[in-house]
Amino acid sequence: MKLSKSEYNKSSYFYDEIMNEFKMYFSLYEDLVEILKPKSVLELGCGMGRLFWIFMKEAKEITGIDLSDEMISQGRKYYAEHKVENAIVEFVNTDMCSFQLNKKYDLIVFALSVLKHLSTDKERLAALKKAKEHLSEEGFIVIDQAPLLYASRPTDWIDAKNSLVADWLPDPSVLDGYQWKKSLKGNIDILQWRYENSEEIQFEVQFTTYRYDIDRLIEHLSQLDMSHEQMLTEWGVNGLGNKGKRFIGFACYPGKKYSPKRELIENVKKRNERLWSDFDLYIEDKKSMKM
Ligand SMILES: C[S@@+](CC[C@H](N)C(=O)[O-])C[C@H]1O[C@@H](n2cnc3c(N)ncnc32)[C@H](O)[C@@H]1O
Repeated sequence: MKLSKSEYNKSSYFYDEIMNEFKMYFSLYEDLVEILKPKSVLELGCGMGRLFWIFMKEAKEITGIDLSDEMISQGRKYYAEHKVENAIVEFVNTDMCSFQLNKKYDLIVFALSVLKHLSTDKERLAALKKAKEHLSEEGFIVIDQAPLLYASRPTDWIDAKNSLVADWLPDPSVLDGYQWKKSLKGNIDILQWRYENSEEIQFEVQFTTYRYDIDRLIEHLSQLDMSHEQMLTEWGVNGLGNKGKRFIGFACYPGKKYSPKRELIENVKKRNERLWSDFDLYIEDKKSMKM
């Protein structure tokens, strides 16, 4: 069994209670849906499908793929109970490196750094290739990837409510009593959560691809013969260089003239959003970062 499957199966209750409250990513998806107006969306590593409500504002078909049967069954139950009427929502329990859906989508997303769960270049390339195979002619693949999350170095147990993650939730009171800790084992980042000083670990994930450098990711997109553009933004972690920033990449078939990047930047500027630094917006104004 793949490690991430057992990790997420074990902690789907905690994920539902706490992690699903993290909303720092949502404005990007709201903007994308508003700008691109996709009629169909595919999310790879969709968890319980918490972004689906956003996709539904435009899309009539939403498919999520996830390796964890527990996450998928919670997602299915949630959407069955909420009786969605204006869209078809489908969860598929499979591996993003090897799926075949026989459908094409207008928007395909790798949200919340899901690529960090894949541990080899072969797997990462396979997942990107699968996304390309399922992309409609006019569609976009969006890759949202933060090489480092929470902390750049190992930490002791930190009270979640007094840490940077409190800014990522609309209501930080759900973090009351929770603590997180980051450790390093060789090239692997281990993130753990627990309740107060309890011995019991409620959530543990081992990320093998925090070191999936953005340069490498871009190289992989080139290998697949896709056009791509990128935006970088600060990710609230002190003192990191480019490798610590949130990367947002747009990939499409070569030769496409339109890109949503300009409009996204305009929206971010209008809202004066904290998670997007002035620095990056300044760079975007000064020169194109087209690769
Ligand atoms: C951090 S969660 C993100 C869930 C969702 N994107 C969200 O924003 O709520 C990562 C998800 O990726 C899934 N995952 C990890 N490796 C996968 C793989 N090879 N194929 C499909 N899903 C995978 C995990 O089961 C987990 O649900």
